[in-house]
Amino acid sequence: MDTQNFIPKSLKNSIENASHTWLTPSNIALVKYWGKSEPQIPKNASVSFTLSKSHTKTTIDFTRTEKVEIPEFDLFFEGKKKDDFKPKIAKFFERILEYCPYLLEYRLTIHSENSFPHSSGIASSASGMSAIAMCLMSLERSLCDVEISDEFITKKASFLARLGSGSASRSIEGPLVVWGKHEAIEESSDLYGVQFPYKVHSIFENYQDTILLVDKGEKQVSSTVGHNLMHNHPFAKQRFDQANENLERISKYLQNGDINSFISLVESEALSLHAMMLTSNPYFILMKPNTLEIINAIWRYRNVTGSNVCFTLDAGANVHVLYPENEKENVLQFIEEQLSQYCQKNQYICDNVGFGAKKL
Ligand code: DP6
Repeated sequence: MDTQNFIPKSLKNSIENASHTWLTPSNIALVKYWGKSEPQIPKNASVSFTLSKSHTKTTIDFTRTEKVEIPEFDLFFEGKKKDDFKPKIAKFFERILEYCPYLLEYRLTIHSENSFPHSSGIASSASGMSAIAMCLMSLERSLCDVEISDEFITKKASFLARLGSGSASRSIEGPLVVWGKHEAIEESSDLYGVQFPYKVHSIFENYQDTILLVDKGEKQVSSTVGHNLMHNHPFAKQRFDQANENLERISKYLQNGDINSFISLVESEALSLHAMMLTSNPYFILMKPNTLEIINAIWRYRNVTGSNVCFTLDAGANVHVLYPENEKENVLQFIEEQLSQYCQKNQYICDNVGFGAKKL
């Protein structure tokens, strides 16, 4: 599929008002996306676990208007008008206009809320953009003269979400989504995410992710700025090659259940991502002292107990603690007794792998 397939051909446009609500999840990358080219094309393929409890719920009310020049919308976040979020959404709408021309014929009122605490440091752009994309696809389905398949809806929603935020392309389906063209993954594409196409070993079923909220403040450097710093980065090529090799490796481990290799790869990916930040020009650090305390405590615990717990990081100080479901009781006890002290107000979120977007 190429971009032309996502330009609608036959729209009947007879609907005056519509309202659609979607709940879409956040995701946590195992092999990381860090570096992109225009328009939101990743420099390497990535794979993530879709989450279950960390999600965004978005309702969009569409009211038909005279045709306008640029999409018009109001945005409410957790019940309050949120004009400071508008530029990002406006840019998103501008980017997708070619693929959603009906945006010029409706006025949109967007109401959005997250399941996770406000400014918890959890990236909300993935769940936020994917929820908007699903609402737009619900409208498109009703405007279309011909029946469009669920498969097309899912693909185009991921394609649109990607144009809002790269990682959002991985927040439509679950439990494992690959984004970025890679020869080891059939049907993979730079344009949208695809479900991991091979049978996954039972040890990874209902995998657990407890998110330790180390720092809830605003990040000093946004992901978008961080991605851009990969353009002149001295290790960029090595990093993109490493990530693509890691994707091929993790695909094997996910299938054969080699959890020790999975753990080494996932932790190395997290540290490699942050190593890119440390070696950017200008350089920056998103980890906090407590991030390192947690990593060391996890390593000690694993050495002593033989547990399969491991960590990953996204572009921030919070730590995602990953472990198989059958270790839940022990690991939660370890987190409560030894790791929660490193979290702001002792807060953490118990999540697990989920299955993607839900219409409400
Ligand atoms: C470290 O998707 O937030 O979480 O495309 O600029 O919106 P933009 O960036 P974003 O970057 C995510 C980076 C990451 C790794 C990942 O999720 O793969």
